[in-house]
Amino acid sequence: MNGVGGGWDCSPCLTMGVGENPLTLGNSWTNRELQAFRACRNSYGRSFLPATCMSKDRLGHDKRARRIMPAVVPVPQALPKDASSMRVFVISDLHTDYTENMAWVKKISSATFKQDTLIVAGDVAETLKTFEKTMALLKDRFRHVFFIPGNHDLWCRNVGSEKHMHSLEKLRRILNICRNLGVETEPKLIKRVGIIPLFSWYHQSFDKEPDIPGYKFPPLKLVCRDFQACKWHSPCSNIGDKLAIYFDNLNLEFWAAVEELTSNADQIISFSHFLPRLELCPEKRMLFYPNLPKVVGSDYLEVRIREIHGLAGSPSACHVFGHTHFCWDATLDGIRYIQAPLAYPAERLRRINGGGDWLPFCIYNSDSGGLINGPSPFYWSQYYLMNKRDPSNIQLAPWVNQFYKAVPDKI
Ligand SMILES: [Fe+2]
Repeated sequence: MNGVGGGWDCSPCLTMGVGENPLTLGNSWTNRELQAFRACRNSYGRSFLPATCMSKDRLGHDKRARRIMPAVVPVPQALPKDASSMRVFVISDLHTDYTENMAWVKKISSATFKQDTLIVAGDVAETLKTFEKTMALLKDRFRHVFFIPGNHDLWCRNVGSEKHMHSLEKLRRILNICRNLGVETEPKLIKRVGIIPLFSWYHQSFDKEPDIPGYKFPPLKLVCRDFQACKWHSPCSNIGDKLAIYFDNLNLEFWAAVEELTSNADQIISFSHFLPRLELCPEKRMLFYPNLPKVVGSDYLEVRIREIHGLAGSPSACHVFGHTHFCWDATLDGIRYIQAPLAYPAERLRRINGGGDWLPFCIYNSDSGGLINGPSPFYWSQYYLMNKRDPSNIQLAPWVNQFYKAVPDKI
């Protein structure tokens, strides 16, 4: 499920779910098989749990997962002490095309965050009208709002004049809306904290881990709705790394400001929609759609982040991202990477990511000494704290394996 009207998404919704009729996929994809794939990826429940976490207690709860990590721990949000206090909250993947998600945004307090800064790491809404309404609501609640577009924000399909628009034209209109609302889309210093939005797009060569052999997974172009819903024209194209390079180059326009910020700020927080590192996504064998890592991240983005925070990072180096709908809080090579998505109503209903009550997530509070203590007890990042990533293991996890039929080797 994705956006309003179904289709693929970057999220776990891309994946299949327990409780549906298992698919037994043969050598070719019939329309019926694809329909079944799309239908059953809407339901996955606890099937995302890693194999080591699959034992259940008598109520059906996962024992080990519960023991090692609550899905998300709500963070008490102390009010700022005075006007000099600085708090930064983050959220991604608001998807307010869903009425439940728009209702969630409307319910954000109009008083609590009046002095605060909010980072919105992409995928706000599919239509310009809903995007504008959402960002206006957020700007009304927070002192400063920063935004960078995600893939859904650039979809052009089925909505009046937008279906005739190109994604770059839509990007231009989105940035105009932000400018008119006072939403920041360029690097800016707020009370000694430098906040840096980074444009990015995914490229398939980002995925450098071995594919899972012996199965026929649905093709990316059928699963990933971006291939139909985004419309590109020269110099952009879906071929190779072209989109990733195009979006990376958009950052050059602001690079002088980035360099100025990095020399003047006490704290830098950069953010993007897409992933800068493959380690920020679960291994393929864990995913209901094992080819997901091909459409989630950008190596060019990680280069930008290292230019900002330094090759070795620092204790205060922090990058926020979105897109996969997996909560994450992990430090890799000296940089802390955080994802805090609202995600889809169905995901919250199943308490994936601990629901939505803990959002937006406060990552910086000057009254408490700056960046919050970490790592936060988010499911997958905690899993990889305790379990070494092993891409050489190409054995599908049992909750994935049940949906795919092995394709025998051709003799
Ligand atoms: Fe996304």
